[in-house]
Amino acid sequence: MSIIGQSVWVGEVLVGWAPIDTADTSPVQLGPLDTARAAGLPAEKGVRFGQGRALLHRLLGELKPDLVPHLDATTCPHCGGPHGPVSVTDHPAVVSVSYADGLVVAAVAATSKVAALGLDAERDPVTARIPREATERVPDLVKLIGGPPASALRRWTQIEAVLKADGRGLRVPPEQVRLEAEAAQIESDPASYHLANIAGPAGYLISLAWR
Ligand SMILES: CC(C)(COP(=O)(O)OP(=O)(O)OC[C@H]1O[C@@H](n2cnc3c(N)ncnc32)[C@H](O)[C@@H]1OP(=O)(O)O)[C@@H](O)C(=O)NCCC(=O)NCCS
Repeated sequence: MSIIGQSVWVGEVLVGWAPIDTADTSPVQLGPLDTARAAGLPAEKGVRFGQGRALLHRLLGELKPDLVPHLDATTCPHCGGPHGPVSVTDHPAVVSVSYADGLVVAAVAATSKVAALGLDAERDPVTARIPREATERVPDLVKLIGGPPASALRRWTQIEAVLKADGRGLRVPPEQVRLEAEAAQIESDPASYHLANIAGPAGYLISLAWR
């Protein structure tokens, strides 16, 4: 991995992050579905949504400096609503975004190099020193995905990253994701994913899956 500011290259994938700054409300150009969504979001979610899209713009600019990308939500394949995964509408790139308390994280790659990717971030109760969160969340996660409690949140971010790369998200039961050290597969699915833990800001667990 080579670290450039608040972004890091993981092979052919560029991952970046930014603190969610409620004072920064600089406008971002949104596609039609995103415009409709943003109008319906409560103030705080609207800020993080705009900052997520701004981060994706920045990373796509790093990926291809002459590109002025257009991003928009896709329609949900399940219900047709405007909340499917974000996509680049005018350039062959794959993207993913994730929001954790106070942080937005995004990943981009050219489709000539990466077929699909997914990214997930969670607060790390240990390094963020919020033990109550660990006590409250970890037992439920262990019930759902099994395995040792100490690694449950990391494994949860890996599972969500894989399910976001797959595109079905949590419509696939999370226990169907088989994790190895640096690879993952979904039961009854031939696709195999690479996994990487991203060395991002302290206090967060960030996982990337791609194929
Ligand atoms: C995708 C999913 C795992 C994300 O969960 P989360 O941890 O709460 O959210 P994160 O902050 O990590 O990620 C949010 C981003 O996931 C992306 N996303 C949404 N659905 C997605 C999907 N099916 N596959 C991949 N990415 C998806 C979006 O780009 C979203 O950001 P945006 O709204 O700003 O565009 C979860 O929302 C999910 O499983 N959704 C699909 C489930 C579904 O279909 N529900 C029925 C709706 S009718």
